[in-house]
Order: sequence, then C-alpha cells, then structure tokens
Amino acid sequence: MPLPPDGQPVEKEEDFLAQTLRPQTFVEYIGQQKTKDNLSVAIGAAQIRREPLEHVLIHGPAGIGKTTLAYLIAKEMRSSLRVTSGPAIEKVGDLAAILTNLEAGDVLFIDEVHRLSKLIEEILYPAMESRSLDIVLGKGGGARTIQLPLPPFTLIAATTRIGLLSSPLRSRFGSTFRLEFYSEQEIEEILNRSAKILGVSLTPEASKKLAVSSRSTPRVANRLLKRCRDLAQVEKHNIIDEQIVSRALKMLEIDEVGLESSDRKILRVLIEHFNGGPAGIQAIAASSSEEEETILEVFEPYLLRIGFLTRTPRGRAATKAAYRHLGVNFPKKIDDARDHNNESML
Ligand code: ADE
Repeated sequence: MPLPPDGQPVEKEEDFLAQTLRPQTFVEYIGQQKTKDNLSVAIGAAQIRREPLEHVLIHGPAGIGKTTLAYLIAKEMRSSLRVTSGPAIEKVGDLAAILTNLEAGDVLFIDEVHRLSKLIEEILYPAMESRSLDIVLGKGGGARTIQLPLPPFTLIAATTRIGLLSSPLRSRFGSTFRLEFYSEQEIEEILNRSAKILGVSLTPEASKKLAVSSRSTPRVANRLLKRCRDLAQVEKHNIIDEQIVSRALKMLEIDEVGLESSDRKILRVLIEHFNGGPAGIQAIAASSSEEEETILEVFEPYLLRIGFLTRTPRGRAATKAAYRHLGVNFPKKIDDARDHNNESML
C-alpha cells in the first residue's frame, strides 16, 4: 500500500484510488491550463532564484484537483510535501509542532484552510510573512512572546469556500488560483487515462456517457469508472460499453445529467415546500435533512453550474430547467413574479 509523504498509511479506498490515478506531472494533469501556465512560471522563477515558491492559495469546488495540484507543485519544486487540514489543527500546539518540524524548502499543504480557527490563523500570519513562530508564554501582565525562527517553506492552502477566508490571511499568499469545473471533453480525457491505468477497456460512447454524468469533476468521474469496472467484472464483460455505464448509473440512482438522489431531493424541497424559492440555505438544509455545509460545498456548485439553481439576494431558487428536469410544470405565477422582480433566473 503506498504511503503519502507525511507517512500515514492510506486507509480509505478513495484515497488509494486517488493516489493510483493521480497525475505525476503537469503534462499529465488535464485542463486548468491558465493555472498550470502561471504556476510553471512561478516555479521556474523560484528555481532560478533558488528560493522556495511563494505561498499559494488554491480554491474551487470539491473534487476538482486541488490536492493533486499541491502534490504536483511539490514534485516540480523537488520538495517534500507535508499534508494536513484545517480541522486537524485544533490547538496552537498542533500548528507549532507541524511548523517546527518543517525542513528548509518543504511544502506544507493545508486542505480546508477555511476551517482554521481565528487563533490558529494568527499564528500562521508571522509564520508565512517572516518565518517566525510567535508563542505567547503566560497570561495577563506577565505574558511574554518568544519567537522561534522557522526554515524557509511554502504554504499551499486549499479551500472550497474562499469567501470564508479573512482578508489578512488571503493577502499573505503570493498567488491565488481558482480551479474551474472541467469540460466534458477534459473529463473524457481523464476517464480514458484512468481506464488505461486501471487496465479496463472503455468504448468512446461509454466514456462520453460517463463524462456527461460526472458533474464536470475528476473525482466523480474516477469513482463512477470504478463502479462500472465492478459491474463489468462481476458480469464477466471485457469491455465497458454504453450499456454497462447506463446500468451502473441506474443502480447508483445517478441520472443522465449526473444528479444524485440528494440533488434531486434538494430541488424537490425547493419546489414542493418553498414554491420554487427563493429560500434560505438553512431552511433548505432542515427540510432536506442534508447538512448546510454539504449543500454549500458539494451540491449547490454543480446545480448552479448546470443552471438548475440560482442565487438571489433572498435565497436559492429552482429554475425552469430544474422544473423541466423533474417533470414538474413551472407555475405561471412564478414566471410572472420573477419577470416582475427583474431577476435573471433562467
Ligand atoms: N485527476 C484529478 N484531476 C486530474 C486532472 N486534472 N487530470 C488528470 N487526472 C486528474
């Protein structure tokens, strides 16, 4: 079983899969061309200057390749990567231990950086800016600060919720990159590459069908490919064709545009409980029994992308396309009201 750079054994199948299929070079990393171009220049320049890369912030929807990009940056810089996440750093001591164990040139990756507490963020500022770990000893009038020098390092932070980062934290990154959803053609390329690595044959039609249902997201595409491989294996087919994909998707309750039952539940709640919206995210979460965070980070970005959901100052609303997809008539009075409010919802 492969070991990630921080030496923790890989436990979850999803992690194992991600590592097997993870691109090993920028050339293998499909899409996100602008980000790759800018990163290549920044990395090349840092190497010429023999300096660590400036701190990098990567944001974008879940499963879009933020962690993969951090691995590639560290690899290009020929640096060791230390991996942690916002929720894992609970106490000041947790961060102090991570920072004091860094070696010169290391890359520290903090996933879900928006989940760091204010207190931890404040330790991070001087560490990022002047490579100094400022620790306050004691309390009240007798308190004093000691400063421990840190080796030169690069912080790569990733988040699905850039809006939750404080501006002092955001301003301390040398560059910020937004990863975008992938085109269907890019997802097909990723699927074909993954199929080769997994040793399975995928017909062009099957690849296309899978790409349409993959929510424009590599992690979803690779997961669905594995489920198709399972079905082909137990049914003793050598090739994954369109028919196998259709049946695998049906078993997983994933429809032809990639919506899962939770996506459909959220849209139904909006339509049936809130007259199509607008409704507040808390109300939608309560009525659909989904976590508010999961709606914001997992379901909503794709529903917005495919135009099934819209965000207005008064909350989220289901669009005409969402009604059509669920086979529900779009009430004329909503049409009129939205026209009247001059909201470009469709
Ligand atoms: N796996 C995750 N993201 C990828 C990408 N952009 N290209 C290839 N494989 C990937």
